Amino acid sequence: MVMMKETDSPFLMACRRKPAPYTPIWLMRQAGRYMKEYRALRRKYSFLEMCKNPQLAAEVTLQPIEQLGVDAAIIFADILLPLEPMGIRLEFAKDEGPVFRQPIREMKQIEKLRIIEAEEDLPFLTEAIRIVRKELDGKIPLIGFSGAPFTLASYIIEGGHSKNYTLTKGMMYQDPVAWDCLMEKLSEVLILYLNAQIRAGAQALQLFDSWVGCLSPTDYEKYVLPYSKKVIDGVDRSVPLIHFATTSSTLLERMKQAGGDVIGVDWRVDLGKAWSCLGYDVAIQGNLDPVILLSSVHLIQKEVKRILESAGGRPGHIFNLGHGILPNTPVDHVVALVEMVHQYSAKK
Ligand code: CP3
Repeated sequence: MVMMKETDSPFLMACRRKPAPYTPIWLMRQAGRYMKEYRALRRKYSFLEMCKNPQLAAEVTLQPIEQLGVDAAIIFADILLPLEPMGIRLEFAKDEGPVFRQPIREMKQIEKLRIIEAEEDLPFLTEAIRIVRKELDGKIPLIGFSGAPFTLASYIIEGGHSKNYTLTKGMMYQDPVAWDCLMEKLSEVLILYLNAQIRAGAQALQLFDSWVGCLSPTDYEKYVLPYSKKVIDGVDRSVPLIHFATTSSTLLERMKQAGGDVIGVDWRVDLGKAWSCLGYDVAIQGNLDPVILLSSVHLIQKEVKRILESAGGRPGHIFNLGHGILPNTPVDHVVALVEMVHQYSAKK
């Protein structure tokens, strides 16, 4: 495998808060339905078929790389994949997103959940990582990822996406023993899952706690922080880790306590203010509203300038969207975005 020096990658330099020649950028969900090449493959294969076929997963990972000129690739997979080998049946229903027909709501179900053997249970993922690393040939680094324990718990307890998280919070408040057992098991699995990705060649990690913003700071501290911290402390930290959540403005300091070299923020916060609250001993990632990409090049330009200014040219800013790219995003706007970020942030 071609080794890459950290200093060859503006993305890895920014993760470590070291000065880079320009602000690096990659985009959450950069491989996906907004690209015609992805849609063409999706006509032939289901989403899960694509994830489980290492050649296809590698192909889709690489689709946006040349076209967009981003500074990192992210492996094509899903946060829900490690749940299947734990014994939880996952389906992607048409227009419904992920669905768990047998949600996990009781202790006796939690006790039955299996601790995975990452390489044996998810060989397609580690193989896809190896293929992508070879194809990238050291040009840009590859990011591996997982969900955080809370976000995964919310999916399997609710049975899918949720509005108010009543069942998840119900277990948290009313059955703390079951909650602890579930969160412990998920944490253990995620450590194995992430370390397997690093062994296969992932050069950075992102932990997605997408839905944790539904909690109060006190509840985050009590019911979530110890488990996210356990995952972050349990992975091989010779690679940098990005800790991301949405609607997280009131949780940022506690997310930093849980850990991560980089904190990912959504567009609801001013990036500069969030960074000054967090302190400059951590890097920051974000935070263009993905909806801006549906507007005009002029508006994108205004927002890019605003975000770069609010980061103040400090080393340790990774440009990204505040959340995943939307399916109806014009590709030429994404290309323009990447060019602008590179151009406006270039150190002369
Ligand atoms: O960022 C990337 O390009 C890597 C691939 C990636 C996917 N999912 C592919 C995907 C990543 C990093 C994820 C993470 C993920 N998956 C999260 C956390 C990020 C976030 O958005 O908060 C979550 C919550 C999931 C669970 C999930 N998977 C949902 C809710 C959906 C349905 C979304 C929708 O818009 O239909 C998925 C499916 C999914 N995961 C798609 C892709 C490209 C769409 C599949 C398709 O229909 O082609």
